[in-house]
Amino acid sequence: MVKIKEGIYWTGYIDWDLRSFHGYSTPSGSTYNAYLILDEQPTLLDTVKHYGYDEMLLRIKEIIDPSKIKYIISNHTEMDHSGSIEKLLSICPQAQVVCSPKGEEGLRRHFKKNWDFKVVNSGDTLNIGRRNLKFFLMPMVHWPDSMATYSVEDNILFPNDAFGQHFASYERFAEEIGIDIAIKEATKYYANIVMPYGGQVLKALEALSGIKIDAICPSHGLIWRRKEDIERIISLYKKWANYEPGKSVVIVYDTMWHSTQMMANVLYELIDKENIAVKLCNLQNTHISDVIAEIISAKVVMVGSPILNNKILPSMGAFLTYLKGLKPKNRYGFTFGSYGWAKAGFKELEDSLKESGMELLAEGKYINYVPDSIELDGLKEIVDKIKNIMLNK
Ligand code: FEO
Repeated sequence: MVKIKEGIYWTGYIDWDLRSFHGYSTPSGSTYNAYLILDEQPTLLDTVKHYGYDEMLLRIKEIIDPSKIKYIISNHTEMDHSGSIEKLLSICPQAQVVCSPKGEEGLRRHFKKNWDFKVVNSGDTLNIGRRNLKFFLMPMVHWPDSMATYSVEDNILFPNDAFGQHFASYERFAEEIGIDIAIKEATKYYANIVMPYGGQVLKALEALSGIKIDAICPSHGLIWRRKEDIERIISLYKKWANYEPGKSVVIVYDTMWHSTQMMANVLYELIDKENIAVKLCNLQNTHISDVIAEIISAKVVMVGSPILNNKILPSMGAFLTYLKGLKPKNRYGFTFGSYGWAKAGFKELEDSLKESGMELLAEGKYINYVPDSIELDGLKEIVDKIKNIMLNK
């Protein structure tokens, strides 16, 4: 266990081996953070994925006899946090499961058990002895059931998925690992998990704006405890929730016989020459969750594919499905690619960018078979448009 402050401990599970979290690539693993508050009524905030139960229990046992736990707060139904509640209740059957109204519905659907639920709403408080815990419902950050718990006397916020990162480490605090790494991981996490719910994030931030926060203890990754780091991550969440674009260009493509790749490379070189930050992502070797992590900082997204069997490549189809779900609004889009004898399939590129909330910068550039030097030179037109956008807006 790790002491966060007197009476509050991290008792989670470090998932060193995790490499995919339902499709989100996690090369650095993850953690599921459970927190024990030692008070007159010992209280556990969230549990861990089912296979981390034994490790969580060992950590709890370093502090108290787990049979003494009075409340298990389930801030979020998703099973990376609720997956050990059932086993834990077999040790402390008197414990109440504290959750939101949607949390109760979700937990009943997942576990088919008639646990002793204590349902709370926004503004409700639970006295556990010397401390009062206050609840803030945060629907869709990340599921309809999500809520945050705030320890009033400690000024500590437990916002579950919000402000988290998929990152496994022995260090528990963001500044111990290096704030740039923590921010980079939090950026990828927001882009892949939270991005579609900007409106709900803004409401949650508004609800939390009046409270003093000395530490943010999320359910994944590192804890934010330095004032400047707390301010920085909250300010980034505001920016992301408002879908504020960055200043870079992301070129995403796949290729069959290198024609689309030639176009992507020329676009990259032309944009780079203008001193505009540009990132080239080949879907053959860049995971879609890493592409999304780049797009959150972009103003322009360019997508390119060849045509195969009258359709775009399946890798691009998968990326666009993901993009349409995450909807990074307020960006400009551009489409390109090469084709042999039919180009109707490119409409999917264009429609997908529009459905993702992007405005197309210009008509797509589609080249028959292999581009020649004149056609490649023609890509300068679109780069000029990008230059104007970067200068003027
Ligand atoms: Fe970490 Fe939405 O669960």
